[in-house]
Amino acid sequence: MAGKTKRVNDIMEYEKWDEILAPYNHAVEELKVKFKNIRKEFMAKGDYCPIEFVTGRRKKISSIISKIKRLNVQDIETELDDIAGIRIMCQFVEDIYAIVDLIKSRNDMTVIAEKDYITNYKESGYRSYHVIIKYPINSIAGAKDIICEIQIRTLAMNFWATIEHSLKYKYDHYIPDTLAERLRRAADAAFMLDQEMSEIREDIMNAQSMYQVKAIAIRDTLNRIQELYDLGETNKAMLYQRKLDLSQNDHEMKEVLELKAELDVLLDQYRVDGVNRYVHDKQYE
Ligand code: GTP
Ligand code: MG
Repeated sequence: MAGKTKRVNDIMEYEKWDEILAPYNHAVEELKVKFKNIRKEFMAKGDYCPIEFVTGRRKKISSIISKIKRLNVQDIETELDDIAGIRIMCQFVEDIYAIVDLIKSRNDMTVIAEKDYITNYKESGYRSYHVIIKYPINSIAGAKDIICEIQIRTLAMNFWATIEHSLKYKYDHYIPDTLAERLRRAADAAFMLDQEMSEIREDIMNAQSMYQVKAIAIRDTLNRIQELYDLGETNKAMLYQRKLDLSQNDHEMKEVLELKAELDVLLDQYRVDGVNRYVHDKQYE
């Protein structure tokens, strides 16, 4: 019987945690979608995007418990600021500050603290910019502000932090002195790489944005060719498909844009007298 009681108690414990942590899961999921959508918006416009990729996690129960014990936490909601965590990776150090400005300009989250571990890097060599925000979620129980830590870092900073974290785990937080020193040197080297990259930032950004603009032009042209197919103009569609294949092979951006313009003129003939082009869409018939 005793065994059974214990099991029930365990389940009760976990149910309590589920209830406490549900709003944090909710906040992490929403924030991940929001930051990923910012990236999508930049990409769709063919603009350079300061966000490379986004991850998020809710702190594990075991880590929350050990932090509560370590810091003698009385109130989880106000004293722990990293139960909900978002990480934003970018290419250049400059992007980090652009993302901080972007976060501050939004009206769906409020910055309550900032930690610049780039200017004031940690003893370990750790570099990142941390922003603590208050983020309101709406659940069936009503509205509630959730504290969330957003870590913003370059790919190089992330590479270093990931490796250092796994070593800390391996050595149970006590990394031997010689290794710690080498890690500090590696952190400096990673930061030098970031600074070198910043020097050629303009060139890299231009190259990437050219590539993006071409990708969008090809996508738009393909959509127009698809429209021709949908209109039953199979021969014309195949002709333009071949033309697009040729210009793509030659990497001729100008030709792709010309094809797109030609297709617009052609498709306009089907759009006269206010007739919606989708009227002929087979899928709707
Ligand atoms: P924590 O108890 O770790 O949350 O420290 P804190 O409340 O003083 O916050 P701080 O801003 O120092 O660190 C918060 C988070 O930054 C950590 O949970 C890590 O994710 C990251 N971090 C801070 N220092 C280091 C470090 O030396 N190495 C690595 N890999 N990550 C770090
Ligand atoms: Mg913290």
